[in-house]
Amino acid sequence: MIRGLTFSLCAVLWVVPMAGCGGGNSATTSVTPTPTSTNQAPVVASANADQAGNFGFDFSYDATQSGTTFSDVNGDTLSYSVAYAPSANGLTDTAGVISGVVSANEDISVTITAADGNGGSVSDTFSISVTIDQSSLQAVFGGRIDLEALSNYANQPVPGYIRQLNEGGNPITDAGATLGRVLFYDTALSITDGVSCASCHLQARGFSDPNVVSAGVEGGVTGRHSMRLINTQFAEETKFFWDERAASHEIQETQPLQDHNEMGFSGQGGRPGLATLFAKLEAIEYYEELFRFVYLDPEITEEKLQFALAQFTKSIYSFDSRFDAGRAVAGDVDPDFNNFTVDENAGKTLFLNPPNQGGAGCRGCHRPPEFDVDPNSGHNGVVGVANASGSFDFTVTRSPSLRDVVDPNGGSNGPFMHDGSLQSLNDVVDHYNAIQDPTGGNPNFFNGLDNRLSGPNNNLQRLNLTQAQKDQIVAFLGTLSGSNLYTDVKYSDPF
Ligand code: HEC
Ligand code: HEC
Repeated sequence: MIRGLTFSLCAVLWVVPMAGCGGGNSATTSVTPTPTSTNQAPVVASANADQAGNFGFDFSYDATQSGTTFSDVNGDTLSYSVAYAPSANGLTDTAGVISGVVSANEDISVTITAADGNGGSVSDTFSISVTIDQSSLQAVFGGRIDLEALSNYANQPVPGYIRQLNEGGNPITDAGATLGRVLFYDTALSITDGVSCASCHLQARGFSDPNVVSAGVEGGVTGRHSMRLINTQFAEETKFFWDERAASHEIQETQPLQDHNEMGFSGQGGRPGLATLFAKLEAIEYYEELFRFVYLDPEITEEKLQFALAQFTKSIYSFDSRFDAGRAVAGDVDPDFNNFTVDENAGKTLFLNPPNQGGAGCRGCHRPPEFDVDPNSGHNGVVGVANASGSFDFTVTRSPSLRDVVDPNGGSNGPFMHDGSLQSLNDVVDHYNAIQDPTGGNPNFFNGLDNRLSGPNNNLQRLNLTQAQKDQIVAFLGTLSGSNLYTDVKYSDPF
């Protein structure tokens, strides 16, 4: 061999025939010849061909090719080191054997160097071309789910005047929300394969249900009315459900799965529990691809379901309402909006002002511009139990955002309240105008009633609104609806 020179792969071809010089193979070698006269550097005997890897899947490859990649005429024992460019992306190596889960959708250039221990070394470079395996997803969803071209969930515009943001330690990612979307619409999440989250949370109804109570598995019905899922992370109240019994959005997300009446994995009455659901979903090939894509691991756990479902439901934004257009121009919520009618502006003023200033006091609990609910609110006097007259429920202190109580065409997204007892927004305003005690004096009614809705001596609120004023409040509520969320395909059924 020529000594004292650095030379390229092509220059050594006459000594060591190799693939890859001048051809389509991108593998290259470089040799650092030994400075001593007795030792000869190892050479590449059989260059590594380029490899293929799948993002999120296990990758394993012996870059020494069982010790045949390099040869050393002196018979020196070779030691191997491996370098990755631009990044190892989850791969590690032992004695030239590369393994790991590929953690980014990015090609990796791998250089393996063999050293003979006497100052001689040689390298061989090849690439791992990384792709996303979504063959099963494509078979089921066509182009509706495309991991190479994710919908934008994470960076949707939010107006600058929105102050509340409760990410709950689980910020939206495009990948996680995409998995959440599939889960949300998948009836495989119920014991009967007949009920999905979307059965009770309909996109066309602001992700609520026109029925007073919703139908779950095997004739089961929910105890309360379904809630709209709008702007759920833009709220100071961080607990979920009408009675705030779920400590976080994430914890809420797997409760319906385990609810005996809703999706049925209750582990009770002979029904399977969550572990059965995990195994069921793990056997579905598109979930293997999705969970590997999102979590680099196909194992399904409750936490993974919670995070993905919550990312999807949190991503349902509604900020394209006439209220938002007016608020953006007016610079604050109180001045009249130039895109509102006279009645809508009058209704806004009634909504915002407290009763002792001639208003209806709605702002005290449903706070603009989010229209989330005051986390310290008591119940609002609606204490019925759906389909059970004579029973009472004093625990309800949460409301969905008042955005999208109607759809963009003015159609109702009701019925309203936890018991679905108020059919229309007129009924809602009538309720607040003259709050009634349906319990006939049950002390729990007065103990739990928010004191903004009662005066001394258990006087119940009387706003004495005229019919025109009631209509104005209803007209204002109609300005809080967006339109995109009802039709945006990224929120829609991908099946
Ligand atoms: C059978 C009907 C039904 C199914 C199925 C269902 N839900 Fe619900 N959802 C409801 C009802 C009813 C409530 C209110 C329950 C309560 O407060 O007691 C609710 C409440 C919620 C809330 C709370 C919203 C808030 O502002 O507090 C979220 C979030 C939610 N559901 C998401 C989901 C997800 C995700 C799934 C699927 C895993 C799902 N739901 C399945 C009926 C259903
Ligand atoms: C003291 C706090 C408070 C005040 C003031 C208040 N609300 Fe509410 N509101 C609530 C609570 C709590 C709920 C949920 C009650 C339930 O479902 O039983 C609610 C529910 C609603 C709902 C039903 C939401 C749904 O998704 O079904 C509407 C609409 C509503 N309020 C409008 C108003 C209007 C209009 C005013 C002013 C006239 C007003 N509220 C004043 C606390 C309040």
